[in-house]
Amino acid sequence: MAIDSAVSDRFELVTVPRAKGVPSFAEEVAAGLSASPKRLPSKFHYDDVGSALFDAITRLPEYYLTRAETEILSEWGWQMVRLLDAPLDFLELGSGSAIKTRLLIGEALRVQDELRYSPIDISTEAICSSSLALVESFPGLHVRAYAGDYFDVLESQPMLSDRKMLAMLMGSNIGNYEPNEARLLFSLLGSALRPGDGLLIGTDLRKDRATLEMAYDDRIGVTSAFNRNVLARINRELDADFDLRKFRHVVHYDERRGSVDSFLEAQERMALQISGADLRITVEAGERIHTESSYKFADEDVARLAEGGGFRPQSVWQDRAKRFSVHLLVHR
Ligand code: AVJ
Repeated sequence: MAIDSAVSDRFELVTVPRAKGVPSFAEEVAAGLSASPKRLPSKFHYDDVGSALFDAITRLPEYYLTRAETEILSEWGWQMVRLLDAPLDFLELGSGSAIKTRLLIGEALRVQDELRYSPIDISTEAICSSSLALVESFPGLHVRAYAGDYFDVLESQPMLSDRKMLAMLMGSNIGNYEPNEARLLFSLLGSALRPGDGLLIGTDLRKDRATLEMAYDDRIGVTSAFNRNVLARINRELDADFDLRKFRHVVHYDERRGSVDSFLEAQERMALQISGADLRITVEAGERIHTESSYKFADEDVARLAEGGGFRPQSVWQDRAKRFSVHLLVHR
């Protein structure tokens, strides 16, 4: 009992509702499936099942991104936390299971006794279980977790602190945003942070097609299950009748945009009903629903994004095989 309360004293969960006027899940699904070509926003992959499937993806042999980033953080994390003056506070967008953050938290707690860590994640289940595990491992750690959309949280919650902030957007999460949305997120971070604050951002580098396409279409089909889970979720939450077996996971690297695009391809013509969204649609045999873009970046692309948000590139680290980069940007 005593131990439990000591742990929960250092953990707080803030649930941030969707901002007013922002379309609901049902509305966004209806809009995306009525559009041509059909699309579903990639953030909808992350219900509790999808977050667990993503966690499995990070351990697949083909999905090198997580291992490459972990290698960079294990090797250089000590330097990352020392380049800004301690004591720091951490803010993380899209923490997921927070395994990599553990490395940076450990490094920070070598140079300061206490650390305040504010993760933001769309999955309440993922953020609570990872936060509790962290608080249990690190006696000097205080977690205030925000369950919600990055934009909603950053716009509604003032991240006030008397300490320098190190914000983190790891794991190539920025890659899921279209270029205009990525610019928007950077300018939002630019206004949430103050001069001298840092932003660590993990980005996957552009590379050969075969490596990229395999990373998003693994042999045992975990990524396929992750992608098709968005239809299962629509079945569960919006009382729809998608037959998951009749949709194939398809991946294509568009070299011009530098994006690995994922789709669900209908294997036959189907009439579908999504009751909870008040929608009936037909999909043709071979028709694709776009479900995700995973953009790849050259280091110059990140520098350009940074400038737009009012950040200056400070350092960049890569893994030994040069597949992935972690950038430290500093707010001007
Ligand atoms: C969590 C957005 C970084 O795009 O690489 C992995 C999600 N999708 N496999 C990515 C994902 C399919 C992942 N991000």
